[in-house]
Amino acid sequence: MLEALAPQPADALLGLIKLYNADPRADKIDLGVGVYRTATGATPVFKAIKAAEARLLETQDSKSYLGPEGDMGFVHALIPYIFGAGFDRSRVEGMQAPGGTGAVRLAIEVAKRAGVRRIIMGTPSWPNHAQIVAAAGLELVTFRHVTPEGTADLDALKAVLADAGPGDAVLLHGCCHNPSGVDYTHAQWDEIAPLLASRAVLPLLDLAYQGLGAGMEEDAYGLRAVLAQVPEALVAYSCDKNFGLYRDRVGAFYAVTGDADALTRAMANGATIARASWSMPPDHGAAAVRLVLDDAELTKVWLAELDDMRGRMRQVRDRLAAAQQVGTIPMAPLGIQNGLFSMLPLNGEQILALREKHGIYMAGTGRINIAGLTSGNIEQFLESLRAVAV
Ligand code: LMR
Repeated sequence: MLEALAPQPADALLGLIKLYNADPRADKIDLGVGVYRTATGATPVFKAIKAAEARLLETQDSKSYLGPEGDMGFVHALIPYIFGAGFDRSRVEGMQAPGGTGAVRLAIEVAKRAGVRRIIMGTPSWPNHAQIVAAAGLELVTFRHVTPEGTADLDALKAVLADAGPGDAVLLHGCCHNPSGVDYTHAQWDEIAPLLASRAVLPLLDLAYQGLGAGMEEDAYGLRAVLAQVPEALVAYSCDKNFGLYRDRVGAFYAVTGDADALTRAMANGATIARASWSMPPDHGAAAVRLVLDDAELTKVWLAELDDMRGRMRQVRDRLAAAQQVGTIPMAPLGIQNGLFSMLPLNGEQILALREKHGIYMAGTGRINIAGLTSGNIEQFLESLRAVAV
């Protein structure tokens, strides 16, 4: 029976982790999977999380089941950060999900149950987006996200929306676009929001990097601009990056609607999908986030750690942008892009040469993880790039 299964290609990004780990070269550089690294190349547990975990160890008196919605204290504690302090609480409800991936899966499955048949999405995008849409059996409609000048392509979004309507969901990255780092400007979000409302499409907002771009409030601008205009939307949120909880899988799914009955149904459908998929989300990381957000001192520590991360990435970006042009690669746009990622216009051969000859690992799309660069390796990276991009 099982021989009937079609072979599956290994996940390219996850495969890159294994290739990197197996490389014996001491001066190799990992610009692959999206994890933050400090100036010394480490991905430490946040101090605020360590403190919350210590508290959890001391005070947690049961590991009994919570339910498919997970830790609702965690889900609710995030609401002011995502939606804004003044957001009408009666419009939003959420549930915990295993990471941003689980949250996107819930959003797309709930959208499907609500009658959505097409997911409209800018490309390039995080490769898992298309995989999740395919796994849900929905049609994917794509439009160009980045112009040749390296800005967000608002015209392409407008053109695709002209043919869209009820039954369509539009998947947008809230901030720190993965893989390009190219975000819509505030002025562009202000145009996008009424457009989404006028086409009566369902916005599906993926906010996986809040705080890694311009700041916690600034990075929520687009999401809040959209929610101020549309009657309903779905939100997928990840704490994997902004709390450094990657392997603990900490995310949340939210539905927003002014219809109280529809909100209850969205959550009930989310819960049945979760029950049939993972039953209940893993507790530990979300409980630690809740303890951080429930404690003003720990919240301060966490926000300061996030500021440091953002500041370091900005420094790396400034250094890269200062190089202006490296071989055939224009570097200045990296200075105005946001978050962990940018894409370099390299072909497959050049990406392979960077890996094999220079020990530099990046995704096959030319996506680099900005945080993989430090003052100790950035010159080596630029030199290698100069040697290859000719
Ligand atoms: C990435 O894009 O590198 C991260 O979001 C990790 C992942 O799950 O792909």
